Parts: sequence; C-alpha cells; structure tokens
Amino acid sequence: MNFTENMDICRHSGSCGGCKYQGIPYEQQLAEKEQAVLEFLEDKNIECENIQKIEPSPAKYRYRNKMEYTFGDLQKDGELTLGLHMKGRFMSVVTANECQLVCRDFNTILDAVLEFCRKKAYPKYHKKAHRGLLRHLVLRKGERTGEILVNIVTASGDFDGQGFVKMLKDLVLDNNSIIGILRTVNDNLSDAVICDRMEILFGRDYYMEMVMGLDFKVSAFSFFQTNVTAAEKLYEDAVSFLDKKEHGTVFDLFCGTGTITQAAAKKGGEVIGIELDPASVSAAAENAELNGLKNCRFIAGDVFDVLSGNSPEKIREKPDIIILDPPRPGVGGKALEKIINLGAENIIYISCNPKTMANDLFYLQYYGYKTVYLKPYDNFPFTGHVEALALLSRV
Ligand SMILES: C[S@@+](CC[C@H](N)C(=O)[O-])C[C@H]1O[C@@H](n2cnc3c(N)ncnc32)[C@H](O)[C@@H]1O
Repeated sequence: MNFTENMDICRHSGSCGGCKYQGIPYEQQLAEKEQAVLEFLEDKNIECENIQKIEPSPAKYRYRNKMEYTFGDLQKDGELTLGLHMKGRFMSVVTANECQLVCRDFNTILDAVLEFCRKKAYPKYHKKAHRGLLRHLVLRKGERTGEILVNIVTASGDFDGQGFVKMLKDLVLDNNSIIGILRTVNDNLSDAVICDRMEILFGRDYYMEMVMGLDFKVSAFSFFQTNVTAAEKLYEDAVSFLDKKEHGTVFDLFCGTGTITQAAAKKGGEVIGIELDPASVSAAAENAELNGLKNCRFIAGDVFDVLSGNSPEKIREKPDIIILDPPRPGVGGKALEKIINLGAENIIYISCNPKTMANDLFYLQYYGYKTVYLKPYDNFPFTGHVEALALLSRV
C-alpha cells in the first residue's frame, strides 16, 4: 500500500475538488470559518452577547464515515477513474485513493473496486448520453463499531455480483470489517445517488453506530452525521441546554434519524421528532425502541404541514423547548411563522449553514426571540463547511 503519511500535504490537493482548505494551516481554517459566521450575523444585525470561540474538530484527518465516489475518467473516454470531481472541471473524476479525510480502509476498498471494474472492462455511465454501467460507489462505516457497508450504484445491466463479493471479502483491511455489500440499480437521468432497486449481495443493508451512549442502526440511504465525534460534541452541547430548564414537551424539528431526539429524551419530558423522509422516521422509531426510550415519538411529514395540522397524525401538545436542525436552506419564513406561533420559551438552533441560519435568526429576532448564546463548530476540516449552535429565548 502506498499511503501518503505526511498529513500536511494531500497527494490530491492539486487536482481534487473535494477540499477547499488543502495546504492551509488548521488554525487559519478555524479563524476564517469563525470570521465567516460572525460576518453572517453582522450582516443581519443579529444581537448576541455570548458568542463563543469556534470548537475544533476532535480529528482533523480521517473523520468522514461516508463517501460517495463517482465513476468517470480524467479525459474524455480515458481510462476508468473512481473518486471525486476535479477542481473546476465537473466532467473529470480524480481517483482519490489517498484521501486523508477517510480511513485507510476506504482507500483500500476504492482501489480494489476500481481494479475489479477495470479488469471486467465495465464502462462508466455517461451522464450526457445516458448509457453505460458504473455510476457511484458509496462507502459508509460505523466509527465506533468498525462496520463497513459497500454499495455499488450502477445502471441496469450485467454485473458480476458474486465476483465482486469474493474480491471484497478477500481484501485485508486495517481495523474495520465489511458487514454488507449492496448493488443499487439507478436508471434515473439525474446524477444524484437514487435507488430504483437494491440487491443485498452479501450480509446486511445497514451498519450499527454508537453515539452519546445510544445505539443506531443506519441503513444504506438514511441521513447520519458524517463526522461522528464532532457531531457528538455539538449534540451534547445542544441538549445540555435542557438540563438548565424545567421542561415538559420538546419538539425536535427536522429530526432525521432521531439522534438529537433520543439524546433529548434521555433528559426527560416528552420529545416529538418531525421529519420529512419516511425511511429516516422508521429508522428513528426502531432506534428509540432499541435504546428502550419510551418518551419519544416520531411523525413523518413536512414541518410546515405537520405544524399546520395538515398531516394524518396530529400534535396536541405545545412545546416548552423547540430544537431545530434544518437542512442547508434553513427553516424559511413559512415554517418559522408556525414555529413562532407555538410560543416555546426557548429555541435551540443547530445549523450546517450559518448564512441561512442568520436569515432565520433575523426573522426570529423580529418576532421576539433573542439569540442569547452562539458557538461555531468546525465539523468538516479542510472543507468550506461550518456548523453553528444557537440558543434563543423568548423576550
Ligand atoms: C441536517 S438534517 C438533520 C439531522 C438530524 N438532526 C439527525 O440527527 O439525524 C436535516 C433533516 O431535515 C429533513 N427535512 C428537509 N426538509 C424538511 C421539511 N420540509 N420538513 C421536515 N423535514 C425536512 C431532511 O430529510 C434531513 O433529515
């Protein structure tokens, strides 16, 4: 194996478009991300007397538990590659087999899958012409369990599943093991990873993870935080606000697979999670049962619809505290109006996009919620992403 162990220089930094901050000292990355958050808040005139320094990620390297690699080539009709899109050239794919954001075993699997597919002479899927076979390779793993799930995404067509399984089972890995090998068939025109049909070639279609002392079953397509140790710190800080306040009911809106919902449920009271994706809701309910938590429940639906009473399952309770962890576009005015009307004492806002968070905080400030605490988190070193946590109080 030929892995670059000089972690200061990534071999792919000149070509790979995956990281924005390659070659930039970590302290500088933190300072720039912190400054960006402050500027978003300033732009929206968000008043907050308690802004904390940015929290660094516990691990700078090898922190990602999920990668979606693309099959392609460097030049038109060149040799098959597998990895990430090239900087500034979306049609070219760089074989990112020495990526420092993932564990060595992901790099080993990527190399082996590429060699297997080259030997078989399988064609890449052509995004424009919509023909060919190989589309994506999705690797996921349980950081705390070492369980790896391999999912090859192809168009319909012949694929040697048995040979693929044998090749992967013969691999010598460092400190993880492959617990499931899947083939997803995707004939959609869009370049996103979409599942028309999934075949379990070996093992199971989920892996197990442990976060905040809770067990989670994570299925092939459900959302899960990609930097588990960093997310754990952020979520622990978020639910620690519940210790400071007597509370009966907590709403966890945009709850995904219910990681925060369950951490909040451990603090007592009744916790209700709302999430759009039905598969994530089923996983959340299953996980809560696995963890023996009886004081949380989950509702599938759009946050705005559920809070407007336009969903099959109605909520009669009023929340004392609301937790928000929206996707990158933020919550937005329509749903925020419903949230404000609930009149909760406190809102705990977790954001993966502080720009849209500042827009939402502005709206909330206008309608009587003061931001009393704010802290940025660097959960994705070397990338341009930054997370933030805010606590709001009704005044
Ligand atoms: C940042 S993730 C939250 C993850 C979650 N806290 C967890 O621990 O798994 C945002 C979630 O919002 C969901 N979502 C997006 N739009 C939504 C909407 N309009 N109503 C409800 N949920 C939505 C997404 O499916 C996704 O799971």
